[in-house]
Amino acid sequence: MRVAGLEVRCDAAGNLIGTLEGSDPTAPALMLGSHTDTVRWGGNFDGVIGVLGAIEVVRLVQESGRKPRHTIRVVDFLGEEANDHGLTCLGSRSMTGELTAADLDRPNSHAVTLGEQCVRAGLDPSAMVRRGWLRNEVSAYLELHIEQGPVLEQQGVEIGVVTAIAGIERLIARFIGQADHAGTTPMLDRRDALAAAAEAVLAVRQLGCDAQGAGVATTSQVAALPGSPNVVPSAARLEAEMRSIDPVWLDAAQARLAGEVTDKAADLGVDVEFDWVHDNQAQPLDDSLQSVIVEAAESTGRSWAPIPSGATHDAVHVARRVPAAMIFVPSINGRSHCPEEMTKLSDITNGIDVLAQTLLALDWY
Ligand code: GLV
Ligand code: MN
Ligand code: MN
Repeated sequence: MRVAGLEVRCDAAGNLIGTLEGSDPTAPALMLGSHTDTVRWGGNFDGVIGVLGAIEVVRLVQESGRKPRHTIRVVDFLGEEANDHGLTCLGSRSMTGELTAADLDRPNSHAVTLGEQCVRAGLDPSAMVRRGWLRNEVSAYLELHIEQGPVLEQQGVEIGVVTAIAGIERLIARFIGQADHAGTTPMLDRRDALAAAAEAVLAVRQLGCDAQGAGVATTSQVAALPGSPNVVPSAARLEAEMRSIDPVWLDAAQARLAGEVTDKAADLGVDVEFDWVHDNQAQPLDDSLQSVIVEAAESTGRSWAPIPSGATHDAVHVARRVPAAMIFVPSINGRSHCPEEMTKLSDITNGIDVLAQTLLALDWY
């Protein structure tokens, strides 16, 4: 950021913010950015191209010798990926004033709260909750990102103009059965908590399959106790999530899943407790910013298509405060959140160029 001529600071939540002052002090800032954290065993492109791409746009602006009218802010948001407390987008939630004390009380599986983890990382949790600073300060936010799915590549399209970002509901289910001898207890007399969790895994998958594109559902973890080969599992814990652009589907999916998992567990003599964790609502992105991106793509001769995002992004939270939009570029074989995640350099430069043209168009207003 410094090499590109940006003044750099960190806000209370550890968001890294680079600023290039505009020529008109009365004009609100234009903000570009994404994140540089990754999932465990993730790839090298998710988030990173949005931050480096934004810095490259500033470098191009500087190189052109033209001082922008609006101040430009480039943000590297802290902790976009879901943390061990089940919360995504920590930095953008704090920046937008959305982060709550209840969020900071969320425990991880070792009963350490998110607030305690923030202190360990040198952050001040009370300042993170109080200091939303975005509204009035910024008039538009643009995020360049890899698609993380196969659609643009399959359609042979260079630029995705994101229409909306999916909502996410997460579930922690605790199954309570009974420990018994695995060699002597007859099969029908068991209360096997892990067998009930296994039924739940299949119910989650079926829910996603039955949605036929309207939503997806994923179990990410199952753990069981006592974990001895000769003991029927007495307890199990499952984590799952559901995503959809359609809030009606998400509501219905939650109700269906709760019913099916409870019924299947009851058939096995197992009790189940649910802890639903709302992550984010589905979020449409700004129509007029989408039009500016489309014009930028067309004026530079790039093919484009509208596309919804099944992945979540900091733009979800920013969009609740200021107009926000996203530019997608294709992911090779649609792979993401894995080491094979890859985007061609020519696709990245297409995205950076469209981001730059969009920013220049907004700077005229
Ligand atoms: C982040 O990449 C998410 O979609 O959870
Ligand atoms: Mn990302
Ligand atoms: Mn990600």
